[in-house]
This record gives sequence, C-alpha cells and structure tokens, in this order.
Amino acid sequence: EIQEAIDQLLAKMSLEEKVGQMCQCQASNFSFGSEIVSDPPEKLVAEGRAGSVLGAFDITRVFELQKIAVEQSPHGIPLLFNADVIHGSQTIFPIPLAWSCSWDMEAIKEACAIAAKEASASGTVYNHAPMIDVSRDARWGRVSEGAGEDPYLGSLIAKAQVEGYQGDSLFSEETLIACLKHFIAYGAAEAGRDYNSVDIAEPTLRNVYLPPFISALESGAASVMNAFNIYQGVPVAANKYLLKELLREQLGFEGVLISDYGSVDEIRIHGYAKDEKEAALKAVQATMDIEMVTRSYEALPELVREGKLSEQQIDDAVRRILYLKYKSGLMDDPFRYVRPEKEMEYHFSKEHLQASLELARKSIVLLKNDGVLPLVKDAGTIALIGPFADCKDLLGPWQFTRYGHETVSLYEGMTEKGFAEERLLVARGSGVNEPLEGGIEAAVAQARKADIVVLALGESSEMSGEAASRMDIVLPESQQRLAEAVAATGKPIVLVLTNGRPLVLDWFEQHVSAIVETWFLGSQAGHAIADVLMGDHNPSGKLTMSFPARIGQVPVYYNHFNTGRPLLEANKHQKYISKYLDGPNEPLYPFGFGLSYTSFAYSKVKLDRSRMRAGETILASVEVTNTGTAAGEEIVQLYIQDCCGSIVRPVKELKGFRKVSLAVGESLEVTFNITAEELTFWTPDIGYTAEPGQFKALIGASSRHLQEAAEFELLD
Ligand code: IFM
Repeated sequence: EIQEAIDQLLAKMSLEEKVGQMCQCQASNFSFGSEIVSDPPEKLVAEGRAGSVLGAFDITRVFELQKIAVEQSPHGIPLLFNADVIHGSQTIFPIPLAWSCSWDMEAIKEACAIAAKEASASGTVYNHAPMIDVSRDARWGRVSEGAGEDPYLGSLIAKAQVEGYQGDSLFSEETLIACLKHFIAYGAAEAGRDYNSVDIAEPTLRNVYLPPFISALESGAASVMNAFNIYQGVPVAANKYLLKELLREQLGFEGVLISDYGSVDEIRIHGYAKDEKEAALKAVQATMDIEMVTRSYEALPELVREGKLSEQQIDDAVRRILYLKYKSGLMDDPFRYVRPEKEMEYHFSKEHLQASLELARKSIVLLKNDGVLPLVKDAGTIALIGPFADCKDLLGPWQFTRYGHETVSLYEGMTEKGFAEERLLVARGSGVNEPLEGGIEAAVAQARKADIVVLALGESSEMSGEAASRMDIVLPESQQRLAEAVAATGKPIVLVLTNGRPLVLDWFEQHVSAIVETWFLGSQAGHAIADVLMGDHNPSGKLTMSFPARIGQVPVYYNHFNTGRPLLEANKHQKYISKYLDGPNEPLYPFGFGLSYTSFAYSKVKLDRSRMRAGETILASVEVTNTGTAAGEEIVQLYIQDCCGSIVRPVKELKGFRKVSLAVGESLEVTFNITAEELTFWTPDIGYTAEPGQFKALIGASSRHLQEAAEFELLD
C-alpha cells in the first residue's frame, strides 16, 4: 500500500522536486563562521528544496517549518525532523560510554525508549543515534558516545538502543527512527584525531567494526549515517564497496542512508572528486540518499540530464525517504509529533528521572578501594574538593536539555544524605583547565579540617564528544597541582572522576585511597554518586574500555593479537620481545574490570565435554560466591580464545556474560552455552566461518582476572 502511494506521488514529482527530498537543511541559517552559505530554511522548505531538517529542538520551530512545507511546498510533502538525541532528550541519562559499563541491556533500552518519548513529543522524528563505533583509542573524543572497545558487547548494546528508540513500530508517536552511525571504522581514526584517515585491513573491518552494525541492522534500524573517514583510500560517503555492496547488497539494508554533516562536499576536500558536482555524483552512485546540510545535491538534476546518473537512481533514493515519511505517519498527519501536552507530561518527569538515577548508579565503576569506601555517615568530617565538587557540568557532550540547571551536583547529592553543614566542607580548589586564585590554599585548609577528602576532578563536557580529541589524556595540570597539594595533607582521598574517556591515572592509583569513575552521569548524577559513596548502592559497573597505564600505550585494548614475540613473565628480561623499554604492555585497568563493596570468588571452569561439532553446544560453567560482607552484583564474563586459525585470532574475545545478584555467602552456578556462533569470525578466504581446531574458554571477573582456561575442540 505504501509503495503504491509512493509510486503515485513520484509520478507527479519533477526531477528537481525529487532531489529536494534528498537535501537536508538546518533549522537555522547554515553558516561557516559569519558567512551564510545557503538560502534560509524557510525558503528552502517553501520551494521544496529540503525534505528534512536538522536540529529543530524547539516544538514551535518544528511547527513553523512543517506548516511551510505542508502549505507552500510543491505537493505539500511533510518534513522529517532530525536531531542528535544521544543520551536523553530533556531527562539526561549517563553518556553512552558510561551506560555501557552497566552491561544492563534492559536499562539501556529503557533509557532510549524514554529519550524517544521525550524527543518525539517535541516533533523530532529521526534520531541520529545510536553511535555504535567500536573505539579503541581514548584520545578520540567520540569514545564518550559509544559502547567502548568490544564488538560483542557493542553489538548487544547497539541492539538494545535500536529497540529502545524504535520500539515496536515507527508509526507510534512515541518512537524515533534510529540511525546507525558512523558506517564505518570512524573509531579507527589515526592517532585518535577526529576526522583523521583510517587505514585498516578488511578482517579488522569485518571482525571488529562491523558486528555492532550487523546486530543493529538485524534489530530493524531504519537508517544509517556514513563515517567521515576514508576506507581503502575512498571517502566512505562515496565508497561504493562499503555502502552499495557491503551495506545494501550483502547486509540487505533497504533503509535511508544519510550523509554526516557536510561529508558529501568533503568527498571533494578529501581529493576524491574535482568539484561539488562530482562529489554529488559519487555519493549517489554509492547510494547515499540524503545530503546533510551542504548543497552539492543541487547538481543532481543536471547530472541526470547529462546521462551520468539515471532518474531511477534518484527515484530509488526518494522512494526510501518517502517510505520513512509514510511509515512514521507523517504523510497522513504532518503534525502528529507536535504534542505540547505530552511535552508537559513527559519532559523531566519523576518517572524518567528515576530511570536516569538507576542507570547512573549502575554506570559507576569502582576502580580502587583500600577500604575507605563506603563512607560511614557519622564517622567524621568530609571535605568535598575540586572543580566538580559543586558543579552542574555533569551531563556530558551531546545534550540539549532545557533542564540543565536542575542537574544534581555532587554537593547537592551529598547534602541530601543528611550531613550537618559543618561536617560537609566544600572548596573548588581549581578550575577545570586553569588555576583558581587562592584556590589551592583554601582547599588545603578545608582538607586539614576534615577526616577524609572527596576529590572531585575531571574533564568538562566540551573535552569529549565530536571534535574533542586530546593528546594528553590526563587530568589538566591545574587539577593535578590541586591533587598533589591535597595529598600532601596526608588525609585519605577518594577520587571521584567526571570524564568522557579513559584517562591515564597512574599518579592517582599510587596516591589516593579510592577511585570512583562516574563519567558524565546525567540529570541525577549527584544523587547516584552520593548513593555509591555512602554505600546506599553497591557499585557493580565494569569498564568497557581499557584505561592505559601510560599514554604511549594507546591504542590499548584487551582483544589484541598475540604477535610472534609476546611478552611473558618468563621472557620479560629479554630484549627482542614485543614490549616497551619504559613501561608495561598492560593497561592500568583492563576491559571488564570494576570492584564492588563485597568480594566474589570463582571456582574452576568446568566444561560438560571437551569436543563438539557445528550444531552442538558445550556448556561452560563456574560457581561464583559472594565472599564479602555486603550483598552485591557481579558481571561474570566468558572469553574464548581461538588458538590457531587461517588468520591470526585475538588472544581472547568476550563471548558471553551474566549479571548476577548474590547475598552475603550465597553461591550460584553460572553457565554459558558455547556454540559455533561464538566461534565464528570473518576470514578473507572463506568469509564467515567457525574453523575446526582448539579453543580455550576463560571465565572470570574481567578480561585480566580469569580462571585457568578450559580447553575444547571444534571437530570437522
Ligand atoms: O549526527 C552528527 C554526527 O554524529 C557528527 N556530525 C554532526 C551530525 C549531526 O549533528
């Protein structure tokens, strides 16, 4: 039925009008610096030269532009309204890197469903999320938007996000079109510099960067955005192999491909097209449907008339775009997402704040604790010191909420725990990036009066996200000076970190008593952190990105290859070994790592048998016991090593996990199914395959803390 309606509409549209659907404009004037580089959105929309609009966060603006489209543009085709709703709309949730540390798919899905509910009430239809780039280089600012370094976990989180945003139907007024970004390998930008070149081999593309996309496509994602980078020398926006062959033909993607901001014109800047017109040609040849913001696609009618593109190619793109407009119900009711009464009901509602708080608690990772945590309420005076002690910059990059002023600061969170004023001292001590006059002296004075110092340090929101790569992923100098001065008082220190990426923390590991990684936790951050500090919530988060011991290790990730000369305990003094002369190979805190206020013991790994054929299953199990003094949750992790393959295989790969809740003294047998699916990878000669041979199953509390491996064989 939809296809028939599209056919009828297409038959009435001129070539120019069709191309108009393929162009996206911004909700406000599009400018570079002070120069306005295209016609105002009102004009573009009225003339049918835009089919979608980026960044109309305000419901009044959505209404205005939609009215123009419906009443003035040829055929009155409604607009799609696109926005980046990355970790919440009005109620802000933890940044995706943080929520990935919860390893809680249901909670992540719920966060996305809530974000969709809030954003769609304000007119947004099409979400530029989830960002599912695997990220191995903490210098890259965009690691904050993703799920970390692991393709397996990343795939599950990608699925949860698509299911959360899209719900059961795109027709619902409470769901958003999900757009998978950035296809593909954007996370492999050389030296972690944003937009930089990518040079990776196809097995890495297929085995590391592709799995989250496959999983999200299988979950029904309706749209995909290209990555800014090149692959095999060709900008992805013009890369026929990646977009047409791999994404559409091999993976069967039939939805809308949207360019990233300006990336069609950037085909020219990369040096892969001589001008904008050729850039447009190459993008459409690669099946790119929508050009975001730049106007190269205005050359498409001429390219068709010159015979360089067929009208069929244009029709195919427009058909996909119109399909989304029908599917989301806009063609029948262009204003169905403009629902001010629902804004009032949903935005920043109590229920949504509660969900944000719960996910925030689960996202916190306890990196070190010599026993000082949890804090005991009546045991003395606390000095809350640092630029994040009483600061509302806890939402992180990519948020556009109107409720930023209601973000709960750490001080506010701690105050609500009922401390008498004289028992909770505060001092900023330093700015985020610059010293504060007299700040250190005042902070040290407060520290001296206290029994314990909570040192709240970190990065501002602008220090991660897009175009926010850093070379030195340490805390800024002024904060380091503050930390040293406070440490010199000899008071025990709990470091509370607010940040959007793994940082180098070697000095802190040596000088503080506890380290609590809180990332950017969103609207309820202060409550969540206070709950963990005071022991009202036992932390259970586990890292999804390795924290380097030293900057020179980056990129450092757990699922690396062995090399021909691996560093071992037995050869560590030899020279010709794959190692550094001046530091360890291993990160400071590995993937999967995170502590609890209780402790867990693991039994030996048991396999129900040691051989299987494709189609059969091996059960791998372990008994986990809560051996500490508090109830707690543990994320039990299964890793597999494929010992020898037709191409070399990683030293281990996550292939399963369970989050278990254990009372004091309680034990639970945790069992994983190992099938050929867990052993499958992509190899240039055969494609996807599970190769017969020897494997090892490892189970434990992190990628480093594993029980002795149990071996098994996949038979031919
Ligand atoms: O969606 C984003 C993308 O991730 C990076 N460039 C800008 C786009 C639109 O805001």
